[in-house]
Amino acid sequence: MVYLKNSGGDPFYVADFRVRVFQKLKLPTLKERYMVLKESGWNTFRIPVEKVYIDLLTDSGVNAISLEQLSDMLGLGLEDAYAGNRAFYKLINVFKEFFPHEYIVLAHQGRAAENLVFKALMKNGKKPYVLTNVHFTTTRAIVERVYGGRIIELPVPEAFNPDNLYEFKGNIDVAKLEDEIRRLRPDNIAAVRIEYASNLLGGQPFSMKNYYETKEICDKYGLPLIADISMADWQIALMKKRDPMVSGKSAAEIINELMELTDLSYASARKGFYVRGGFITVKDNKELYEEIRSWQVVFEGHTSYGGMSLKEVAMLIDGLKMAFDDDLPFYELEQIKYTVEKLDERGVPVIKPPGGLGVHVDARRFLPHVPLIPNGEKGGYPAGALACALYLVSGIRGMERGQLSMDRDPETWKEIPVELDLVRLAMPRKTYLQSHLDYLLDRLTWLFENKDLVKGLKWIYEPPVLRFFEGILLDQDNWGSRLMEAYEKQLGEI
Ligand SMILES: Cc1ncc(COP(=O)(O)O)c(C=O)c1O
Repeated sequence: MVYLKNSGGDPFYVADFRVRVFQKLKLPTLKERYMVLKESGWNTFRIPVEKVYIDLLTDSGVNAISLEQLSDMLGLGLEDAYAGNRAFYKLINVFKEFFPHEYIVLAHQGRAAENLVFKALMKNGKKPYVLTNVHFTTTRAIVERVYGGRIIELPVPEAFNPDNLYEFKGNIDVAKLEDEIRRLRPDNIAAVRIEYASNLLGGQPFSMKNYYETKEICDKYGLPLIADISMADWQIALMKKRDPMVSGKSAAEIINELMELTDLSYASARKGFYVRGGFITVKDNKELYEEIRSWQVVFEGHTSYGGMSLKEVAMLIDGLKMAFDDDLPFYELEQIKYTVEKLDERGVPVIKPPGGLGVHVDARRFLPHVPLIPNGEKGGYPAGALACALYLVSGIRGMERGQLSMDRDPETWKEIPVELDLVRLAMPRKTYLQSHLDYLLDRLTWLFENKDLVKGLKWIYEPPVLRFFEGILLDQDNWGSRLMEAYEKQLGEI
């Protein structure tokens, strides 16, 4: 973004990129959309992309790519080699600009990096606890279901109040952190984990002060501070807007400062790094690095590609530069802010303040008549139902991030009630335009005015782990057809 004044003297911003590759989109008709939902088991993850008009499911693996990345994609000048390829050595040099870390390990995506990290840190379940600001779905599945451990979440109380305008909802509660370390004993704790621009809190950042305090506690008890930096781009851009401790610093300086405090970082490179892959960086613990690398060659492939294609290893070079660019990450932040503010003005409940990642609609307040957990006649899962309803009335695909995304307790098989039940409308980087946002605003507002027509969902098939990906559900009492009829009456067949 370029921040300027307009000719009237008011603040004004203009995008700092242009788009030269485009993809034609087609809006399926209302009836088609209804059929698609039925065939997809009322689960937006199961909808084929050609039936989606505006795809706000995720920012993962669907960002626009840069001209430099496009040329790397052609693979010209890349010498294909199983071991010791040229792109890897180039990549390592670029990593050093941003990370004061000795070691880099590549993996095919974020969860593969997480698997290697927690395998090494949890000592195959002997150090069962991971303390964190907030869990992510794959992190929890790996820590709890693969290695038999427990995630302990310690967010600040403001984090779960959608209306609270606290600017650092991604902070970890440092007083609770110290209490929990003492209660669980440091020997049983694998790591303290901080997620950047916390996904399940609605893309909310932590403050630099909180990070220093967390590091101090980690040092006091001899625990590693690890970071999920999949969305470091938005974390840093939000810090620049809000955090006086980083005032005047460049993104490269901020990531260097953060990484100086961090013992190990890992990422899904599919998100802030614009490439299909993942990576781990280790500051200086050679033994830890060697353990991770020894499993990398078992699960991911040779050290110099780690499950990524050579072209993507090369594309990550520019991906790193874009993530830590001083202007680029602000485009989506402004899109999110614009949409959140407009929805808020219209009374549609959203997570505030606007963060990174996307627009997060608070489904519990949008659909107060739908129980969080299925309850006989009424069904359940407000955010799951709302994501489907939005697709039906617009062809826009969002993602449920709430009760459905939280797997059952593996021991009791009971539902674990979540604090936030959200529909996430992610903003893939450099992908959508103002008219897309205005269409989203219009249809979401219409849906809010007709919210009583939307009821809950119930299970037809519930997978045992990460159930939200492939689960099959049904609209309770056939509410989808009534919503379709109301829409058609007022707005027509498209
Ligand atoms: C914060 C965070 N960590 C880890 C992952 C997992 O990454 P991947 O989907 O590349 O396996 C994601 C994916 O969205 C994420 O948002």
